[in-house]
Amino acid sequence: MCGIIGYVGTQDAVPIIMDGLKKLEYRGYDSAGIAVFGRHGFDVVKRKGRLTALEERLAGEPIDGHMGIGHTRWATHGEPSDVNSHPHVGSGNRVAVVHNGIIENYKQLKERLERKGVTFVSQTDSEVIAQLAEYYYTGDLLDTVIKVANALEGSYALGIMCLDEPDTLIAIKKDSPLIIGVAGNGLFLASDVPAVLKHTNKIYYLNDREIAVLTKDQVEFFNPDKEPIQKPQETVTWSVDSAEKGGYPHFMLKEIMEQPGVLRETIQSVIHNGDNKNIIDNIDVTRFSKIVITACGSAYNAGVVARYVFEKLCRIPVEVELASEFRYKDAIIDEKTLVILISQSGETADTIAAMREAKSKGAVTLSIVNVVGSTIAKEAQHTVYTLSGPEIAVATTKAFSAQLVVLYALAIRFAAKLKKITPQTETELVSALVSLPDKAAELLIQINYIQKYASECVGYKSIFFIGRNIDYAIALEGSLKLKEISYIHSEAYAGGELKHGTIALIEENTLVVAIACCKSLYGKIQSNAEQVISRGAKVLFVGNCIDAAPGDKLSLITLPQINELFSPSLSVIVLQLFSYYVAANKGLDIDKPRNLAKSVTVE
Ligand code: AGP
Repeated sequence: MCGIIGYVGTQDAVPIIMDGLKKLEYRGYDSAGIAVFGRHGFDVVKRKGRLTALEERLAGEPIDGHMGIGHTRWATHGEPSDVNSHPHVGSGNRVAVVHNGIIENYKQLKERLERKGVTFVSQTDSEVIAQLAEYYYTGDLLDTVIKVANALEGSYALGIMCLDEPDTLIAIKKDSPLIIGVAGNGLFLASDVPAVLKHTNKIYYLNDREIAVLTKDQVEFFNPDKEPIQKPQETVTWSVDSAEKGGYPHFMLKEIMEQPGVLRETIQSVIHNGDNKNIIDNIDVTRFSKIVITACGSAYNAGVVARYVFEKLCRIPVEVELASEFRYKDAIIDEKTLVILISQSGETADTIAAMREAKSKGAVTLSIVNVVGSTIAKEAQHTVYTLSGPEIAVATTKAFSAQLVVLYALAIRFAAKLKKITPQTETELVSALVSLPDKAAELLIQINYIQKYASECVGYKSIFFIGRNIDYAIALEGSLKLKEISYIHSEAYAGGELKHGTIALIEENTLVVAIACCKSLYGKIQSNAEQVISRGAKVLFVGNCIDAAPGDKLSLITLPQINELFSPSLSVIVLQLFSYYVAANKGLDIDKPRNLAKSVTVE
C-alpha cells in the first residue's frame, strides 16, 4: 500500500517528511515524492525508485517550507515513474494531493474534467483528486475537500494543501488508514503511526469520511456535513520497530491477519467492477483447447488448486507446470493454448522465461501478478492484478490467497462463457466467493487454539501433509510454508499415495496433517488417518467435513462451511498460522528465513 505523510508546524517540513517516509518504507513502494509550500508556490520533487533517489535530487536542489506532504507509492494504476509519483498537483498549480487507495470511478471523473478542458499529465487514478479539487475550489478548502470526497468512489486517505491557504493542511479518509499526530513542533497526518512516532505518541485515528483541518497549532475535526466533531486523543505505547508491523511481532503474522481485507478488495476488483473484471470478461476462452498454468513455489501451488477448479467448472484440460521445468521442456502448446502465469513479484526468473517460451510458441499469455509494472505484468498479453498490497514477509500468505480468488473468478467466468455452468450456478458460485472474506475472518478467531497446538509441535523432525483432490493442493502449500520458515523437513502427499511407499516412514509420534474439505472423499482421507494412527502417528485434521472425535492421537481444527472449490482459501489460513507459530516457538527469523529471497530473480 502507499504511504502518506503531511506536516504543518514551526520547523522545516522537508527533513521531517523525508524521515517519515523512511518509516513508511516497510509498506513497500516503487517511487516517492514530496511537495512543500515554498516561497513562490509549491516546490514538488518526485522520483521513481527508492527514497535515496529523492534524497539525491533534494541534496542537489534543496527546497524548504513549514508545510508539506510526502508519499511512497505502491503502483496500482500507471506504472512506476516520476510523473506517476505523488504528490499530484492540479493543472493550475494551486492544489497538491497525496493519496493512498484506489479511485474506482477515476475514468469517468477524468473524462468529465477533460471535456471541461483539464489536461492530465499522469496515468494515475490519484491525479483526478488534485484536478477535481482545483476545479471545485472557490476559496474554501474544507468545502472543496467535502465536495471532492462526495464525488469519489473507492478507497482513499488524502493529504491536501492549497496555495491560497498557506497554513492549512486537510486530511480525509475512506477505507484506507489515516492518523493525525499532535506534537510540540506541529501537527502531522500519516498512513500509519511509525511515520510520526519520533515526534509524538498523541494520536487521533480518523474514521471514514471524517475530515481533519490541521494548522501549526491545532487540529479541528468535521463530519461530511461540515459540522464540528470531537474525537478522543489516543496515546500510543508502541516502539518504533513494532509500530511498522502494526503491533504484530512479524510482518508474516500481520499479513496473515490482513487476508480478509485483501480477499474483499481482490474479489471486488474481479467480480464487481474495474480493470480486472474487464480483462477477465474480454478474454475469448472459446478459442482454447487447453490451459497451462506455470509458476514457482507457492504460486505453483495456487496453480494446482486452480487446476481442480478449472477442470471441475470449465471441463477443459488444465496442466500445471513448474516454470523451471516448463521453460526447457519444448512444451506442446500453440495459439489454442492459454498459458496462465502466476507470480507475486512478477520478476521470478523461471516464470519470466516460461512466459517468453509460451509467447514464442504462439500461446496466449495471462498473468496474475501483485506488483504493478513488473516484467511479467508488462510482457504478458493480459494481466490481472492481485490487490494484496506489498507483501514484506518472504513467505507468501495474503498474495497467495489473492491469487486463489483471482483464479476462482477466472474459472467461474470462463465456465459461464463456455456454457458449462448455468447463469444460476454462476450466481451461486459468485455469492459463495463473495462470502469468503467473512468466513476467513471467522476462522482467524481460532488463532489461539492453532497457536497452542503448534507450540506442541516444535520438536518434530519431519511433518507430513496429506489431502485428496483439491485438499492435496493445499497440503503442498502447507508443507512449503512449514519448511521455509521453521526449517522442519516436510512432505506433502496425495492421501492415496501413502501406501505406495511413504507409509514406511510413519512411526511412533510422526505428525500427519490431514486436510479434509473434499466431502466426497472424506471416507478415504479418514481411512488414511486411521492407517497412520494405527502405526503410531498423531493426526491433525483440518477441514469442514470431519466426522471424528478428538483423542490423544487425533486433533481437529474445524473450518467454516463453504463451497468445496473455494475451501483452499480457508484451509490454507490454518496451515499458514500453524507454520508461523511453530517457527515463532523456535525463535526463528520468520520474515527473512535463511537462504531465501522474496523474489528469485535469477536461475
Ligand atoms: C513462497 O512462500 C515463497 N516465498 C516462494 O515459493 C515464492 O512463492 C516463489 O518464489 C514464487 O515467487 P513469485 O510469486 O514472486 O513468482
